[in-house]
Amino acid sequence: MTLLAEQFRLVDEATPLELRGTVSELRGLTLRVEDLAAPIGTLTAIHPRSQTARPVLAEIIGFERSTALAMPLDDAAGIRAGDEAVALQHRPTVRVGRALLGRVIDALGRPLDGRGPVDVSATWPLRRRPDQAMTRPRIEHPLATGVRAVDAMTPLGRGQRIGVFAPPGLGKSTLLGTMARHTAADVSVIALVGERGREVKDYVESVLGPEGLARSVVVVATGDEPPPLRVRAAEAATSIAEWFRADGSDVLLIMDSVTRYCQALRQIGLAAGEPPATKGFPPSVFATLPKLLERSGRTQSGSITGIYSVLIEGDELDDPVSEACRGILDGHLLLSRKLAERGHYPPSTSSSPSAASPSTSSPKSTEVARREVIKLLASYEQVEDLLTIGRLRLGQQPRRRPRHQPQTQHRRPAPAGPQRVPGPRRLPPDPVPAPRPQPGHPAGTQRPPATRRTPQPAHPAMKD
Ligand SMILES: Nc1ncnc2c1ncn2[C@@H]1O[C@H](COP(=O)(O)OP(=O)(O)O)[C@@H](O)[C@H]1O
Ligand SMILES: [Mg+2]
Repeated sequence: MTLLAEQFRLVDEATPLELRGTVSELRGLTLRVEDLAAPIGTLTAIHPRSQTARPVLAEIIGFERSTALAMPLDDAAGIRAGDEAVALQHRPTVRVGRALLGRVIDALGRPLDGRGPVDVSATWPLRRRPDQAMTRPRIEHPLATGVRAVDAMTPLGRGQRIGVFAPPGLGKSTLLGTMARHTAADVSVIALVGERGREVKDYVESVLGPEGLARSVVVVATGDEPPPLRVRAAEAATSIAEWFRADGSDVLLIMDSVTRYCQALRQIGLAAGEPPATKGFPPSVFATLPKLLERSGRTQSGSITGIYSVLIEGDELDDPVSEACRGILDGHLLLSRKLAERGHYPPSTSSSPSAASPSTSSPKSTEVARREVIKLLASYEQVEDLLTIGRLRLGQQPRRRPRHQPQTQHRRPAPAGPQRVPGPRRLPPDPVPAPRPQPGHPAGTQRPPATRRTPQPAHPAMKD
């Protein structure tokens, strides 16, 4: 059975009959092709009648009785009613092989780096079901990303999946590219989905650099490309990562960004006639997203550690895509605008504990150090305002009083002359009133008044 597995797969993927149809309408981004009974996802070539025009590829995204709804993967200019559509591949595949390393390709595997054809012949399904839950080994080994702030504070396990959540312009792409360049994984597969065209070259040459690129595969579909191509770029990168994992490698899969992938799915769903449900996203988006994200993870042969960037609008993770991603992924890393504005990179503020699984973060000293840093950061946050207004200097401890100390212990015998009293500093120097029992507190005890918590210069008459 295993000997013939490849042959069975080829038979399964083959289109038994050549299916043909006729273009009847193009409305917006949706092509209607009559009498084409091809399944969803089929790659189709539309042959314009003009002899000089090249065939236009399209993908079947839905159907109504015998009419297929398709979306062009290319510029639809030149297509006319009556043009012939021929189904090419009803189970889409990606071409894979080690020759992909160091290459920049588009969603259909075509080279974008001007270095000639990519010499690969094996194929791998573009849309594969995630592995069954019980067949997956546990996450046991750490994976260094090469970014110390991440490795120390959000240690990743080989096969884990995390989301990097941030508003635009805070350094997500730079952080993800740095990880791809310096990671301890064998291979990095990077999907740039919906990025600006001008950013891609800069990303490949500056962020990834020649040595990072040499062990990476970059799959690009920029924001101006048709939605099915952007969706395919995310899927093709995942498929390529799966092939390397099946080949025994530990892979770092980077997807920048999942939000743009979901936006492309939304455009496809709406074009196929789905109703918008959650903030304009049709239901199919949230059914398709877990199928993609669940494909990374660990298998018996290797692992795919997934890092997915998610765009957020403010500092809240309450948009539908963020909420869905948080539910699917193992953990998250949140980047803060405040830190980025101060030039603090990577501006990571919080990370979820599930991403920082102690079982993966070895050695033990790293975990101890991580807890210490969390404690220090929490203390800093408490006194940050006092430091800013100059009421506390670095190295000085904030003055605190125990909460339930008997009143008699605070009060000193009244010295001669004016008294310091709790409350606003401009009160007349009256004698201290006798303490009264407070409701809810045992008699004779009193919470220190709030104004006492901020350090105040002592009255000259009172010496500490
Ligand atoms: N590590 C870094 N060091 C210095 N500047 C950075 C760093 N990371 C990001 N930046 C700055 O932030 C800008 C946006 O970064 P980018 O990675 O494109 O953000 P995003 O992908 O979140 O939109 C960069 O052009 C750069 O000026
Ligand atoms: Mg970016």
